[in-house]
Amino acid sequence: MQTALVVGGTGRTGRRVLQQLLGRGVSVRAIVRARGKLPPEVAGHPGLTVIEASLLALTDAELQGHVCGCDAVISCLGHVINLKGMFGAPRDLVTRATARLCRAIEASRPASPIKFILMSSVSVHRPRGLDTRRGAVEKAFLWMLRGALPPARDNQRAADFLLGKLGASAFVEWVAVRPDSLLEGDVSAYTLHEGLVNSLFAPGKTNMANVAQFMCELTTNPQTWTDWKGKLPVIVNSAAQP
Ligand SMILES: NC(=O)c1ccc[n+]([C@@H]2O[C@H](COP(=O)([O-])OP(=O)(O)OC[C@H]3O[C@@H](n4cnc5c(N)ncnc54)[C@H](OP(=O)(O)O)[C@@H]3O)[C@@H](O)[C@H]2O)c1
Repeated sequence: MQTALVVGGTGRTGRRVLQQLLGRGVSVRAIVRARGKLPPEVAGHPGLTVIEASLLALTDAELQGHVCGCDAVISCLGHVINLKGMFGAPRDLVTRATARLCRAIEASRPASPIKFILMSSVSVHRPRGLDTRRGAVEKAFLWMLRGALPPARDNQRAADFLLGKLGASAFVEWVAVRPDSLLEGDVSAYTLHEGLVNSLFAPGKTNMANVAQFMCELTTNPQTWTDWKGKLPVIVNSAAQP
């Protein structure tokens, strides 16, 4: 049986990830700030182990203990959308959690690499101009957005950590999933792309259930992992393509 650690599992996308992983028979560990915020259908599930803690307050040794024995670590963390969540500490929630979880995996020296799956965003771009669809006006707008809004900056820095600072690791492999505007709704047809497909000014749509479905595929389907590891796939609903 596979084991996955999920952080951000009380969030809108994270709760769907928990549900779908448990539905596939994956054994799940979830680090949550408040157990009571877990959806009732997963809260008492025998496959779920809940660790009630503030993620960034855990020590390195505690984090290492939680990642040890996992096949995958999935982060669906995001800043709570209110003034305190967006402008208060920790402004670098996603980046710091990404770096600390990856370092904890490395310190645990697993026999085979552990997958790290990050919920990212289409506001995040790949380096060296690889996301060619983003024009000069859009880039300038994003530059201002990252200056004004800590969460936008945080998402880019988390991806930059995976692309750069993590370096070639014998112990961590990663995928950063980039959804477009998030929607409610069930799992539906979706497409995956190496680069951006929509402009920020004419956004596409991505069901959160589809993000969860793809993250579960990355966790359990070796071919899907081989196809996307080390990449930042953009995921959009099929009907939302231009
Ligand atoms: N909104 C969009 O259209 C969109 C599009 C693409 C990508 N994204 C990105 O996708 C990610 C997830 O989005 P979402 O809407 O599914 O998330 P969400 O519903 O806002 O959930 C955020 C999760 O992060 C946790 N969290 C927040 N602050 C924390 C802290 N200081 N310490 C520990 N945990 C903390 C929350 O825990 P609590 O329940 O305890 O608060 C919750 O589990 C975000 O990074 C977002 O930027 C969003």
